[in-house]
Amino acid sequence: MNKSGKKIIIANWKMNGLLAESMQNIKHLRMNFLTNPSSCDVVVCPPFTLLRDMAEKLPSAGMKLGAQDCHYEKEGAYTGEVSARMLKDMTCSYVILGHSERRQHFSETSEIVKKKALTAIDAKLVAIICVGETLYERDNNLTDIVLREQVIHSIPENANDSNVIIAYEPVWAIGSGQIPANEQIEKTHSYVRKVIKEELLQFKNVPRVIYGGSTSPDNAKSLLSIGGVDGLLVGKASLDPKQFWKMIESAN
Ligand code: PGA
Repeated sequence: MNKSGKKIIIANWKMNGLLAESMQNIKHLRMNFLTNPSSCDVVVCPPFTLLRDMAEKLPSAGMKLGAQDCHYEKEGAYTGEVSARMLKDMTCSYVILGHSERRQHFSETSEIVKKKALTAIDAKLVAIICVGETLYERDNNLTDIVLREQVIHSIPENANDSNVIIAYEPVWAIGSGQIPANEQIEKTHSYVRKVIKEELLQFKNVPRVIYGGSTSPDNAKSLLSIGGVDGLLVGKASLDPKQFWKMIESAN
């Protein structure tokens, strides 16, 4: 847990959301927020196309804006890419990096994730760095080895406990409806903390470590009660504002 001691709930909308429906969803969330202020931190990461519109709606209701990726260069001839400074310019405070869908479908290695995180932190964004094992790796008892490799090689030298969040997302749990047992999650989070504490000397304190993968209103409370789980990274359930609000309430 970082200094604030607060849980954090992060919505990852992935490649979903057209303007009209998204504005409706946010209207619903805003209304809930303004009438029942939340005691946890809430971040919404819509696709790039919605950032400007969300920038006008989220902060005034107490929520923070995040993006789902950025390039590792500050600017230049990278057609189609978006830089960390552009996200900051759009009033983003957070950026998700190294999500397993990017590692899998866009061949992002931990080294690339690290370069992105370095630039994001330089631009004063909080980098939400995702790590997690595949089913094959889990079944072959490789989880700790894979997580250690990802943690060590994805986190840059300028990281500290307030500019980085680690999201542990088992790849096999994402969008599958399956999640590890609570004891397993506790063990894995504690392992990630140990690696950070013992091997990454840039950290004075361990940053927040959150869980992601098939989280829902039904399991949010139980997941948030696990020792060492500082919050949730929510995919599908964050697209429905009623479900997402229930999850926020579980963290209060
Ligand atoms: P899910 O996705 O909640 O739909 O499983 C989580 C994520 O990919 O961040």
